[in-house]
Amino acid sequence: MRITMTVNGEAREADDVWEGESLLYVLRERLGLPGSKNACEQGECGSCSVYLDGVLACACLVAAGQAQGRDVVTVEGLADGDELHPVQQAYVEAGAVQCGFCTPGLVVATHDLLSRRPDPTDPEIREALAGNLCRCTGYEKILDAVRLAAQRTTPTDLEGSR
Ligand code: FES
Ligand code: FES
Repeated sequence: MRITMTVNGEAREADDVWEGESLLYVLRERLGLPGSKNACEQGECGSCSVYLDGVLACACLVAAGQAQGRDVVTVEGLADGDELHPVQQAYVEAGAVQCGFCTPGLVVATHDLLSRRPDPTDPEIREALAGNLCRCTGYEKILDAVRLAAQRTTPTDLEGSR
Protein backbone atom coordinates (compact mmCIF):
# COMPACT_ATOMS: atom_id res chain seq x y z
CA MET A 1 0.00 0.00 0.00
CA ARG A 2 0.99 3.62 -0.41
CA ILE A 3 1.26 5.80 2.70
CA THR A 4 1.16 9.57 2.52
CA MET A 5 1.80 11.78 5.51
CA THR A 6 3.42 15.03 6.54
CA VAL A 7 6.86 14.49 8.04
CA ASN A 8 8.76 17.40 9.54
CA GLY A 9 6.55 19.82 7.63
CA GLU A 10 6.92 18.14 4.22
CA ALA A 11 4.45 15.96 2.33
CA ARG A 12 6.04 12.51 2.04
CA GLU A 13 4.89 9.22 0.59
CA ALA A 14 6.10 5.63 0.75
CA ASP A 15 5.15 2.87 -1.69
CA ASP A 16 4.94 -0.90 -1.24
CA VAL A 17 4.40 -0.64 2.51
CA TRP A 18 3.06 -3.92 3.90
CA GLU A 19 0.33 -3.92 6.49
CA GLY A 20 2.43 -5.06 9.42
CA GLU A 21 5.10 -2.45 8.93
CA SER A 22 5.66 0.12 11.68
CA LEU A 23 5.85 3.87 11.33
CA LEU A 24 9.39 3.56 12.69
CA TYR A 25 10.39 1.27 9.82
CA VAL A 26 8.86 3.62 7.26
CA LEU A 27 10.65 6.63 8.72
CA ARG A 28 14.03 4.92 8.94
CA GLU A 29 14.09 2.59 5.96
CA ARG A 30 11.79 4.19 3.42
CA LEU A 31 12.02 7.91 4.10
CA GLY A 32 15.71 8.16 5.04
CA LEU A 33 15.18 9.50 8.55
CA PRO A 34 17.37 7.36 10.85
CA GLY A 35 17.20 9.73 13.84
CA SER A 36 14.45 7.75 15.58
CA LYS A 37 16.16 4.64 16.90
CA ASN A 38 15.02 1.04 17.04
CA ALA A 39 16.23 -0.39 20.34
CA CYS A 40 13.42 -2.68 21.50
CA GLU A 41 10.60 -2.50 18.94
CA GLN A 42 8.19 -3.25 21.79
CA GLY A 43 7.29 0.13 23.22
CA GLU A 44 9.61 -0.33 26.19
CA CYS A 45 12.55 2.00 25.63
CA GLY A 46 11.33 5.27 24.10
CA SER A 47 14.23 5.49 21.65
CA CYS A 48 11.77 5.76 18.73
CA SER A 49 9.73 8.65 20.22
CA VAL A 50 8.14 11.02 17.69
CA TYR A 51 5.23 13.41 17.63
CA LEU A 52 2.14 12.02 15.90
CA ASP A 53 -0.40 14.80 15.38
CA GLY A 54 1.38 16.64 18.19
CA VAL A 55 1.22 13.78 20.67
CA LEU A 56 4.30 11.90 21.84
CA ALA A 57 4.24 8.36 20.48
CA CYS A 58 6.50 5.33 20.15
CA ALA A 59 6.86 5.00 16.39
CA CYS A 60 7.59 1.27 16.75
CA LEU A 61 4.07 0.73 18.11
CA VAL A 62 2.29 2.70 15.38
CA ALA A 63 1.33 0.69 12.31
CA ALA A 64 2.33 2.52 9.18
CA GLY A 65 -1.28 2.53 8.01
CA GLN A 66 -2.31 4.37 11.18
CA ALA A 67 -0.05 7.25 10.16
CA GLN A 68 -1.84 7.71 6.82
CA GLY A 69 -2.66 11.39 6.33
CA ARG A 70 -1.25 12.40 9.69
CA ASP A 71 1.44 14.79 10.88
CA VAL A 72 4.72 13.33 12.12
CA VAL A 73 7.63 15.22 13.64
CA THR A 74 10.88 13.36 14.29
CA VAL A 75 14.03 14.44 16.08
CA GLU A 76 15.36 15.62 12.71
CA GLY A 77 12.45 18.06 12.52
CA LEU A 78 13.39 19.82 15.76
CA ALA A 79 16.69 21.19 14.47
CA ASP A 80 16.76 24.30 12.30
CA GLY A 81 18.85 23.13 9.36
CA ASP A 82 22.37 22.59 10.68
CA GLU A 83 21.57 24.46 13.89
CA LEU A 84 20.71 22.22 16.81
CA HIS A 85 17.52 22.83 18.75
CA PRO A 86 18.26 24.23 22.26
CA VAL A 87 17.15 20.90 23.74
CA GLN A 88 19.61 19.02 21.52
CA GLN A 89 22.36 21.51 22.36
CA ALA A 90 21.68 21.12 26.09
CA TYR A 91 22.10 17.33 25.83
CA VAL A 92 25.48 17.83 24.13
CA GLU A 93 26.71 20.44 26.61
CA ALA A 94 25.55 18.53 29.68
CA GLY A 95 27.47 15.44 28.57
CA ALA A 96 24.23 13.48 28.42
CA VAL A 97 25.12 11.77 25.14
CA GLN A 98 27.31 8.69 25.38
CA CYS A 99 26.48 5.98 22.85
CA GLY A 100 23.60 8.22 21.78
CA PHE A 101 21.13 5.46 21.12
CA CYS A 102 18.58 6.79 23.61
CA THR A 103 19.24 10.44 22.82
CA PRO A 104 16.81 11.14 19.95
CA GLY A 105 13.89 9.76 21.95
CA LEU A 106 14.95 11.65 25.06
CA VAL A 107 15.27 14.87 23.08
CA VAL A 108 11.75 14.53 21.68
CA ALA A 109 10.36 13.59 25.11
CA THR A 110 12.16 16.56 26.70
CA HIS A 111 10.77 18.85 24.01
CA ASP A 112 7.30 17.52 24.81
CA LEU A 113 7.80 18.00 28.56
CA LEU A 114 9.03 21.59 28.22
CA SER A 115 6.17 22.52 25.92
CA ARG A 116 3.78 21.42 28.69
CA ARG A 117 5.91 22.38 31.72
CA PRO A 118 8.49 25.06 30.85
CA ASP A 119 10.05 24.91 34.32
CA PRO A 120 9.63 21.31 35.49
CA THR A 121 10.63 20.05 38.91
CA ASP A 122 12.99 17.10 39.17
CA PRO A 123 10.13 14.68 39.97
CA GLU A 124 8.24 15.99 36.93
CA ILE A 125 11.32 15.42 34.75
CA ARG A 126 11.74 11.90 36.10
CA GLU A 127 8.09 11.10 35.51
CA ALA A 128 8.05 12.55 31.99
CA LEU A 129 11.16 10.61 30.97
CA ALA A 130 10.30 7.39 32.79
CA GLY A 131 9.54 5.67 29.49
CA ASN A 132 12.95 6.50 28.01
CA LEU A 133 15.68 4.03 28.94
CA CYS A 134 19.39 4.79 28.89
CA ARG A 135 22.03 2.14 29.46
CA CYS A 136 25.01 4.49 29.63
CA THR A 137 24.61 7.70 31.57
CA GLY A 138 23.07 6.76 34.90
CA TYR A 139 20.47 9.48 34.16
CA GLU A 140 22.11 12.27 36.22
CA LYS A 141 23.51 13.98 33.15
CA ILE A 142 20.16 13.59 31.44
CA LEU A 143 18.55 15.45 34.35
CA ASP A 144 21.25 18.13 33.98
CA ALA A 145 20.45 18.38 30.27
CA VAL A 146 16.75 18.87 30.89
CA ARG A 147 17.41 21.52 33.56
CA LEU A 148 19.77 23.32 31.15
CA ALA A 149 17.27 23.06 28.33
CA ALA A 150 14.55 24.48 30.58
CA GLN A 151 16.73 27.52 31.32
CA ARG A 152 17.46 28.17 27.67
CA THR A 153 14.35 27.18 25.76
CA THR A 154 11.88 29.90 24.89
CA PRO A 155 8.19 29.37 24.02
CA THR A 156 9.09 30.07 20.37
CA ASP A 157 11.55 27.15 20.42
CA LEU A 158 8.67 24.83 21.29
CA GLU A 159 6.18 25.98 18.68
CA GLY A 160 5.20 24.03 15.61
CA SER A 161 5.50 20.44 16.77
CA ARG A 162 2.33 20.03 18.74
S1 FES B 1 12.06 0.99 19.82
FE1 FES B 1 10.12 1.82 20.21
S2 FES B 1 9.94 1.88 22.35
FE2 FES B 1 11.84 0.86 21.99
S1 FES C 1 23.65 7.24 25.94
FE1 FES C 1 23.79 5.10 25.50
S2 FES C 1 21.78 4.36 25.93
FE2 FES C 1 21.74 6.40 26.61
